[in-house]
Amino acid sequence: MGLIPSASYSITVRLDVPADGLPASQLTAAVESAGGMVTAFDVTAARGDVLQVDLTCAAPDADHAVQITDALARVDGVVVGKVSDRTFLLHLGGKIEVQSKVPLRTRDDLSMAYTPGVARVCRAIVDRPADVRRLTIKRNTVAVVTDGSAVLGLGNLGPEAALPVMEGKAALFKRFAGIDAWPICLATQDTEEIIRTVEIIAPVFGGINLEDIAAPKCFEVEARLRERLDIPVFHDDQHGTAIVVLAALTNALRVVGKPLAGVRIAMSGAGAAGTAILNLLLAAGATDVVVGDVIGVVHRDRPGLDPSLLAVAAKTNKRGLSGRLSEAIAGADVFIGVSAPDVLSEDDVASMAPDAIVFALANPDPEIDPMLARRHVKVVATGRSDFPNQINNVLAFPGVFRGLLDAQSRSVPQSALLAAARALADVVTDDERHANYIVPSVFHPDLASTVAAAVSSAVSGSSE
Ligand SMILES: NC(=O)c1ccc[n+]([C@@H]2O[C@H](COP(=O)([O-])OP(=O)(O)OC[C@H]3O[C@@H](n4cnc5c(N)ncnc54)[C@H](O)[C@@H]3O)[C@@H](O)[C@H]2O)c1
Repeated sequence: MGLIPSASYSITVRLDVPADGLPASQLTAAVESAGGMVTAFDVTAARGDVLQVDLTCAAPDADHAVQITDALARVDGVVVGKVSDRTFLLHLGGKIEVQSKVPLRTRDDLSMAYTPGVARVCRAIVDRPADVRRLTIKRNTVAVVTDGSAVLGLGNLGPEAALPVMEGKAALFKRFAGIDAWPICLATQDTEEIIRTVEIIAPVFGGINLEDIAAPKCFEVEARLRERLDIPVFHDDQHGTAIVVLAALTNALRVVGKPLAGVRIAMSGAGAAGTAILNLLLAAGATDVVVGDVIGVVHRDRPGLDPSLLAVAAKTNKRGLSGRLSEAIAGADVFIGVSAPDVLSEDDVASMAPDAIVFALANPDPEIDPMLARRHVKVVATGRSDFPNQINNVLAFPGVFRGLLDAQSRSVPQSALLAAARALADVVTDDERHANYIVPSVFHPDLASTVAAAVSSAVSGSSE
């Protein structure tokens, strides 16, 4: 896959350069020769015949960042000083903070916001427990809970290393939906301890967003918390992904003019994301799905199926396929991968039906190079930001939680997931829809509010 410079590997290199005219083009050429791209050129000080320049550039990866610095050091007359990694600079001291919403300037302010005034508010909540939503942060606050067991695509990193991800999630909640979310990284990976801990912290929160908890544990944690709590519990890696995939598939099918109920779908991956995607596709009307995992096609007679795979087998594979997934991919209209890099060959893709759709969503390296897939199929989506059609949960979760909180929902009905997917798909208008534009930009100004309104009205219409 071609390597494209990205802000996530952005460095600022402090250089001393001769003041009497080292052309900037020599510096940019050095950066470009090492695969980078200059994004800023600031002269930050002058000392006699030397200028101090802060050169900021994007690199494709960490190795290239080192090569860029080396290339700059080789330019005649240039002395390389401090190199700062802008991603690390952005994380110094964390990404979120708490701010007071009330003025605390006078003794009067203190007497109302804290004691003795606050005591009357406490008593009011004792008298009418439902008022906790009216008189506290609860109605707009979400816990982002992880045990650090499946952090991004990086595996079991533990709670401390998961914290930057959870802080980022909290920042996204605030930016896109005005929700105050707080990271809760647990120093346990024991199912019972996770469930009990979330249960006992729940009074503070209007919703629980489970994050980066490994399958199959995540299924039990979510199901049991949903039984025990009177606030919505949503595992984003499952349902956020499923909503965005269904929305993207809805628009991809509109592009190729095929109905969901009539298409053959082959899926690779039956973990957290795969299982939730499957369930939502079936609820939306898909009728012909075959699922494969690391062992092969999931079918009823496969030995050693756990309860989650047994449920998958019961709902899929009506033609009774077994063995490798390739057989199901031949002639399929849709391939959805949430599994591992390079599980799909070019021959596989070439064997699909005319006007096929490929969602290769494994992160960071998809099931197939999207450029290869594009040679054979009509619509391609990945999880990557450097290709069109990025399937990214941030398209869904802020609006979903905004809707759940606004409706004071006590659960997450499936009708709300379907409504969110429909609303997300419809943010892309008929005029805009294209093989390379099946999901809206995450910065679309109406995105979260449209999804929120759909979720809120689905909750109100459900019998939760
Ligand atoms: N782009 C997105 O929005 C998005 C969202 C969720 C997950 N993902 C990606 O999807 C992948 C799976 O995520 P998950 O949370 O479901 O993980 P998971 O560990 O819960 O499940 C992984 C599944 O893939 C299967 N698998 C592993 N290697 C395979 C192989 N070589 N061939 C076929 N199947 C194989 C496993 O058997 C399992 O069923 C990850 O790469 C993740 O980053 C992407």
